[in-house]
Formats: sequence, C-alpha cells, structure tokens
Amino acid sequence: MQSEMRDFLEAAKEAAWIGGKLLLEKLGNASVSVKGPADFVTEADLACQDAVVSHLSQRFPSHAFLSEEGALAVRPSSASHVWILDPLDGTTNYVHQIPFFAVSLALEIRGRLVLGVILDPSLGELFWAAAGEGAFLNGCSIRTSECEALGDALVSIGLPAQLARDSLDAAIMLASAEHCQSLRRTGSAALNLAYLAAGRHDLAWAFTTKPWDVAAGAILLQEAGGTISAPDGGPLDLQTHRVPYVAGATAKLHAAFLDLVRPMLRESSG
Ligand code: IPD
Ligand code: CA
Ligand code: CA
Repeated sequence: MQSEMRDFLEAAKEAAWIGGKLLLEKLGNASVSVKGPADFVTEADLACQDAVVSHLSQRFPSHAFLSEEGALAVRPSSASHVWILDPLDGTTNYVHQIPFFAVSLALEIRGRLVLGVILDPSLGELFWAAAGEGAFLNGCSIRTSECEALGDALVSIGLPAQLARDSLDAAIMLASAEHCQSLRRTGSAALNLAYLAAGRHDLAWAFTTKPWDVAAGAILLQEAGGTISAPDGGPLDLQTHRVPYVAGATAKLHAAFLDLVRPMLRESSG
C-alpha cells in the first residue's frame, strides 16, 4: 500500500476509535432530540461527528467532509478528497441502549472510494478495507459467504421507521421473507454491510439509505468479494442524496435477488 494511503487508513481507524469511545461513554446518558417522525439525533451523534472531523482535519487540512449531522450533510462541491461519515449509525438502537451501532467512515478521492472503516465499539470489532488491498476484521482477512441460492440466504434489510403497508419496501420485505432463509432488521445499515462482508449475512438491501450509510460498507463488501449495486442492477451512485442498494455475497445470489425484485420495481415506477 502506498504510504499516503497507509496514513489515510491509520487516521481513519484512529478517528473511528476516538468517536466510538465517545459513543460508549455517553451510552445511556446522551440527550435526545427529534429530527423528524421516528428520526432521532443524540448529543453522542454530534460529539462523535465533531471528534472525528476534528481529528481528520488536523491531519489533512485540505480534506472536505460529507457527514450526517447539520451543515456537513451537504456534499462539498469542489474538494478532491472527501470523507463520508456517519458518526452514529444505529441511533434508534443507541437511544434504546441496544449495543448495536457503529461509526462508519469512508474516503473518496476524485469521486472514487479508496477506503472504508466501520467500527462496532460495543464488540470492539473494527472492519476496514482499502481499494485493492482486501477487507479485514481486527487484522484478519474477511470474505463473503459462498451462498448462491436465495433459499439459503440470510438477508439483512433496512426499512424506513414508518413502513407503509402498500410501499415498495413492504412488498420486497414480503418477497424476501417468502424466498430467502430468514430476515434480520438490525437497525444499522453500516453493520449490515460489514456483516455481509464478513460472511455472517448473505444478502442485504435498503432503499432509503444515504451516502454515509453505505459508502464504507460498499468498499468493504467489494474488497471482501461481494457485489453491490443500485436496485435496478446499475452502479451504486454515492453522489445522490438517496443511495438505495442491493448487495450479495456472490454475483449469482445478487443476480437472483435482482430477478426477484425487478417486477416489483417496474410496477412501482410505472
Ligand atoms: C439508519 C440505520 C437504519 C437504516 C436507516 C438509516 P441512523 O441510520 O442505518 O438501519 O434502516 O435507513 O437511516 O439514522 O441510525 O444513522
Ligand atoms: Ca445511518
Ligand atoms: Ca447516523
């Protein structure tokens, strides 16, 4: 790995740990505000974002940020190096003191993802990947599962907090439940992709996700041998505000799931 990339990666891991420790310290006593219906932000989201951004800005003053909270939630227009951060992915779990949440951090250089780090501070699991270098969990190389059949696939799904009965999400959730082995709704999109990369889950999808939910997980998954795309099978587009995705442990499983959902997508857009 080039020394510049090694520096970026080390700084990302340090920043994730700084943020993750703050999240653990504040678990159970962080004040909570409501951003929208069933959409929360806590004092811990903001403190973690400040700490991660401050650590990385000190190391790399010319780098820019796209991060979930406040003014940073708008994509910077002209920077070559952009860090994409979700300081606390799984805020609803966090508010309920369920120890399943993560710091998710990726670096994009001239529009290309070059590294991703996802930290689960509760379990002390640090997932990371760099372009062309593979994917790792606490220093050990990880690979996706070899699952190729929908009927054998454990699927993690991401749903909007308030699910409409006649929505596309509901239709695809039912189709997933009918055709796959079993479903999980963990409450953390970043950890869903990390678990897929590590071979714990076989498929993952979510249609209401944002760039900071998906960026780090996307490179982690690709480096672990998995496939991720937009729901229509086209390339994942992190430049848009919404980043819906379908991700599979193997190309064959990913394609089988796309075949399953294609008629529903066509119906919902037509
Ligand atoms: C949310 C979680 C959830 C997913 C939502 C995300 P947040 O992120 O990842 O699992 O279904 O789409 O917004 O709000 O906890 O950072
Ligand atoms: Ca998130
Ligand atoms: Ca968040």
